[in-house]
Amino acid sequence: MLRVLGFESSCDETGVALVEVPKGGQGVPKLVGEALHSQIAMHQAYGGVVPELASRDHIRRVLPLTREVLAQSGLTLQHVDVVAYTQGPGLAGALLVGAGVAVALAAALGKPSLPIHHLEGHLLSPFLSADPPEFPFVALLVSGGHTQLMRVDDVGQYEILGETIDDAAGEAFDKSAKLLGLPYPGGPHLAKLAQQGDAGAFELPRPLLHSGKPDFSFAGLKTAVLTQVKKLGAAPSEQQRADLAAATQAAIVEVLVKKSMLALKETGLKRLVVAGGVGANALLREQLNAACAKRAVRVHYPELQLCTDNGAMIAMAAALRLQRGLAAPDTDGSFAVRPRWDLSTVAGAAS
Ligand code: KG4
Ligand code: ZN
Repeated sequence: MLRVLGFESSCDETGVALVEVPKGGQGVPKLVGEALHSQIAMHQAYGGVVPELASRDHIRRVLPLTREVLAQSGLTLQHVDVVAYTQGPGLAGALLVGAGVAVALAAALGKPSLPIHHLEGHLLSPFLSADPPEFPFVALLVSGGHTQLMRVDDVGQYEILGETIDDAAGEAFDKSAKLLGLPYPGGPHLAKLAQQGDAGAFELPRPLLHSGKPDFSFAGLKTAVLTQVKKLGAAPSEQQRADLAAATQAAIVEVLVKKSMLALKETGLKRLVVAGGVGANALLREQLNAACAKRAVRVHYPELQLCTDNGAMIAMAAALRLQRGLAAPDTDGSFAVRPRWDLSTVAGAAS
């Protein structure tokens, strides 16, 4: 049995988790402990993540969370074989906390450490569900900072089919929500307000919808929402706000669904995996389910609470890499974080 302790601290969530890799390398690794602290309440007062506050809070939370994970799993640090951590992309100071703790812990235990790409964690998070996907598949990665469609042939084999040329889908949700006076992070709040709204009440653009390529652009949508907010004036009615929220959500979801179908068609694959925070959106799930059912495509989502950032996905990505001999854990106690890091450059990064 190989045990991997994973740390996530790239943004505003501190996540720690412990995963067990079965003997002989067969079967899906199992999550045996998990703890998470979200800083959302702390950043809400500022309308967004304050990097310095994020780093300091990660420092406060990371060791208590680690103790919680060990207590949950009935194990001690001596049982840990590899310590994994998010190396990037993300906020430099925040990443340094998780990386520093992970590498120091590994050195103290005389065990190796293993850097993991945050988006690979998201991408592989559906392997934590009861019904894990099989390779190959198309992945729709929709988080606060990234929007990408990928062809995934195996762990470490990622081909980017298309991505956003400006804002990410989560950013489009968050920025539009801010314009509607909703708290940070806006995605779930906008989705909630949209439940009372009529998406047809406003006409909003669907940028690049007909480009014929699986690429995205959301900056224009945000500008269109701003124009509508200005038109509504200083005191829009609750119904008008709900209508605009519904129209915004509908525009983002329509583009995501259409481009996902295009990527499936281009690759000829019959399996779609959705990952990242926006993957929690109910309308997106509903419309993807309908579109995939029509085309006999199986669609997989991570468990709802594993859509947003967490430690389990980092420990799982590390475990899957180790299982396949795709990881070269570090043993020299040195480390560097990568605030900007393209996932396709880790593709197939075999030892
Ligand atoms: O993956 P994630 O936790 O962090 C990044 O790696 O960026 O994604 C966070 C993003 C935020 O933009 C948030 O507003 C969005 O996911 N989000 C949602 C929902 N839940 C989270 N967007 C729309 N609907 C939701 N239910
Ligand atoms: Zn994330």
